[in-house]
Amino acid sequence: MTIQSSLKRLSGGLLISLLVSQGALATTAAAPAAAPVSYGVGTDTFHPVRAQHGMVASVDATATAVGVKILQQGGNAVDAAVAVGYALAVTHPQAGNLGGGGFMLLRTASGHTTSIDFREMAPVRASRNMFLDAAGNADSKKSLTSPLASGVPGTVAGFALANKEYGTLPLSQLIKPALDLARNGIVVNDSLADDLTVYGKEVLSGHANSRAIFFKADGTPYRQGEKLVQRNLAHSLELISRQGPDAFYKGKIADEIAGEMEQHGGLIAKSDLANYRAIERKPVGGTYRGYQVFSMPPPSSGGVHIVQILNILENFDLAKMGFGSADAMQVMAEAEKYAYADRSQYLGDPDFVKVPLQALTSKAYAKSLAQQIDVAKARPSSEIKPGKLAPYESDQTTHFSVVDKDGNAVAVTYTLNTNFGSGIVAGNSGILLNNEMDDFSAKPGTPNVYGLVGGEANAVQPYKRPLSSMSPTIVVKDGKTWLVTGSPGGSRIITTVLQLVVNSIDFGMNVAEATNAPRFHHQWLPDQLRVEKGFSPDTLKLLTEKGQNVKVMSTMGSSQSIMLAPNGMRYGASDPRSIDDLTAGY
Ligand code: DON
Repeated sequence: MTIQSSLKRLSGGLLISLLVSQGALATTAAAPAAAPVSYGVGTDTFHPVRAQHGMVASVDATATAVGVKILQQGGNAVDAAVAVGYALAVTHPQAGNLGGGGFMLLRTASGHTTSIDFREMAPVRASRNMFLDAAGNADSKKSLTSPLASGVPGTVAGFALANKEYGTLPLSQLIKPALDLARNGIVVNDSLADDLTVYGKEVLSGHANSRAIFFKADGTPYRQGEKLVQRNLAHSLELISRQGPDAFYKGKIADEIAGEMEQHGGLIAKSDLANYRAIERKPVGGTYRGYQVFSMPPPSSGGVHIVQILNILENFDLAKMGFGSADAMQVMAEAEKYAYADRSQYLGDPDFVKVPLQALTSKAYAKSLAQQIDVAKARPSSEIKPGKLAPYESDQTTHFSVVDKDGNAVAVTYTLNTNFGSGIVAGNSGILLNNEMDDFSAKPGTPNVYGLVGGEANAVQPYKRPLSSMSPTIVVKDGKTWLVTGSPGGSRIITTVLQLVVNSIDFGMNVAEATNAPRFHHQWLPDQLRVEKGFSPDTLKLLTEKGQNVKVMSTMGSSQSIMLAPNGMRYGASDPRSIDDLTAGY
């Protein structure tokens, strides 16, 4: 198919990526093959955790232990995932939450793949220009740290839907470990202590309710090794355990949230909470060198662009180029630019805007983009579409993966958005509220906290869900679940997950190697190839010579992945970029 004809398939206008002139052709004639699969043999550089039956990978060792125990008690992967999700709300309040939202991707042992969208929703009183200041400029304080920053939380509804449709144990049994941790206290680990020190003052200390939980009487935040009891959160968990999600959306907790909003100028009303629904959606599907790839559909952009980028990469022989080669990095970075350019224009909540899903994930469109990629020369982002540059900032979200003894698999990414969300705890609920409204585009062309720009499709509207990059992903080999993965990292989630897939399929890495390998990222704007430490200076020099604006910056992502071998063994890896995380199984 030609560029012109693939263009016509796109409803709603021209894809901006195609407005640039055609570059040097770089595609190969025969379809390049995948590398031989590796699960972690003795001679490998890094070794995954192994288990025979069930496995959990999460950012927090206590939460992982909760999940493994549920599996051992006979719960399935969905049961364990819900228990881990509740536990993280207590042990990892930077991102684990009841006051945020996210996505669950699941594939049953029998091969049914589905997803649950529990992304936050704008309250009914939200409006297009609500985050602009008097001069008409986007005001990130409003969208990040004010009571206006919060969307209607989805986590409690999402876990309840997952439990009802796919779980086997009663919700109360899955909440119990979290309830005990909140009531009896957790020992503050390094990760929480570090984040309380760095972000606590800035995000939490201005709010009396939050201070009362995370700061001691002397005004300092809890430190590593100290005991943190969360009584109010325990009470909220008990209410949900007894009354189900109605406690959160219609009962006492709804009163606390709406009361907090009313008192401090937020918009979430009781009716917004009562109107919230988690939604089961058909995952985005694609293929890559003979593997099937399933990931999160809109309102996440993750699945669409992972499939789109993989489709582009299929036209190049990455295995032959080799991991960490300037050519492989060049091709991947260029493909990423085109995808993120499309993201800014076409992606939004599918219940409000028509997302050209088929077109964006078509092999023909990908081929037309591949033909524009020049292995020797980077195309400046300004030639793809002009935009403003934005700095990166620190951030927090969390992902966990679960596989049970029968082979059911669950990948969950959920978040408050940035560390501790808006920093505001709703009344006496003990529940931190998200600042997910910042993921809307406050003003077309103005970057959000991740430097992502967006337009009309992602403008604020009542009851709309902000566009996300969260990408819980499952790769299937020969009809069987093979890789379960996902990561936090804001805009870098898409490229982190992409690299997990490419490292495993093209470079034949086992799951630990695929996790540990240094990462890189291009998001079109800013026009910058962000790389972690660990790549050869020779490679970086070659990339600079190709025209890439290379910047060595801090680490990206915190993936939590499980790979399943045909003989039934489970291999898992938590990301060495995080501390206190754990993959464990039995
Ligand atoms: O939904 C999104 O794309 C962002 N709110 C995710 C935030 C995130 O990953 C922060 N983490 N590191």
